[in-house]
Amino acid sequence: MLEQIIAAFQKIYHCDPDFVLRSPGRINLIGEHTDYNEGFVFPLAIKYAQWLAIRANGMQEVKLHSLDLDAESVFSLTDFSEKGEGWIRYPQGIAFMLSQDNYSLTGWDGLLSGDLPIGAGLSSSAALEMVVARAFSLLGGYSWDPKKMALLAQKTENQWVGMNCGIMDQLISGCGEAGKAVLIDCRSLDLSSYMLPAGTVIVVMDTMVKHSLVASAYNERRAQCMEGAKFFGRQVLRDVSIDEFAARKDQLPELVMRRCQHVLSENLRTLEAAKCMEENDPERLGRLMNESHASLQNDFEVSCAELDIMAYESQKLDGCYGARMTGGGFGGCAIALVQADKAECFQSDISEIYQKRTGIKPNIFITEGAQGTSVVYSK
Ligand code: GLA
Repeated sequence: MLEQIIAAFQKIYHCDPDFVLRSPGRINLIGEHTDYNEGFVFPLAIKYAQWLAIRANGMQEVKLHSLDLDAESVFSLTDFSEKGEGWIRYPQGIAFMLSQDNYSLTGWDGLLSGDLPIGAGLSSSAALEMVVARAFSLLGGYSWDPKKMALLAQKTENQWVGMNCGIMDQLISGCGEAGKAVLIDCRSLDLSSYMLPAGTVIVVMDTMVKHSLVASAYNERRAQCMEGAKFFGRQVLRDVSIDEFAARKDQLPELVMRRCQHVLSENLRTLEAAKCMEENDPERLGRLMNESHASLQNDFEVSCAELDIMAYESQKLDGCYGARMTGGGFGGCAIALVQADKAECFQSDISEIYQKRTGIKPNIFITEGAQGTSVVYSK
């Protein structure tokens, strides 16, 4: 990938890049739709990433070529009144937010490419935001603080792009650890990393479907969680205990009650998952993943037919400890915790079953925890 991106940069810009950077996508082991409730999530950065080759251009603008989309775009670093469309919104939004925070912005020419599937629910936009933030910090000469930049990238999504996401995707893209999954407390932003249980791997299974209305359904879920917290006189569901909820849940509107039920139980499952990792207990971890899927399907209602087929068919297969949808939902990927020596067989079986039941060929791969945003080449 590195040679390929350097060669492509030379072809387009007729010179060498100063730096090549990468920022990975993610899957979430457990802890879904909990981040914006200031709860717990347990993601890992994956081996696929957004790559960016850059060279300072001495101007007050960024020129960015996307190899995969075969598109080019230029934006100013002094005038943000013309808002770009599509993929360029993310880099431009990061530049805007940096300028709002009084960071000095240095112009660059860049070539963007990657092996991270776009729109598959693996956080390609968060990876893009973080790799661009790294580029500005490198050329601007300010130290790289991934947590601070993840917050800035989240603000870009919320205020520039209009997606009301939580902090998980940007934070794990910036702070991923090789070989580890990272438990994140989304209130304190404290991170603790854990190895998967011995002899297990994570299989990622892309359903290849993306249903519409994802952003509006996501924002609606967020609002319902806030309504639930308000009922209990709190700002966020993190501060509502499961006992308090059980005592008064019948007074809540039914839909809001089920949304809260998911978030509160998912937080407990996520903390328990950390114990399973410590105690090297894949069976219990798998059961928690299965419960998480059912809760997302029935109470939070963010699954879809294809994700259900992928998760439930996986759960039946030999060597699979547990499986669930991962990410925001309504399509994208499911994941399974699988016995390492059965993983090859598992992948071909689930691929065949899914294709038979849906007529769609899935994209299936094994991943382990990967390092977060990094500089992989400097001239
Ligand atoms: C999307 C959002 C995240 C998180 C997940 C659901 O990926 O970007 O912030 O809320 O959905 O867990």
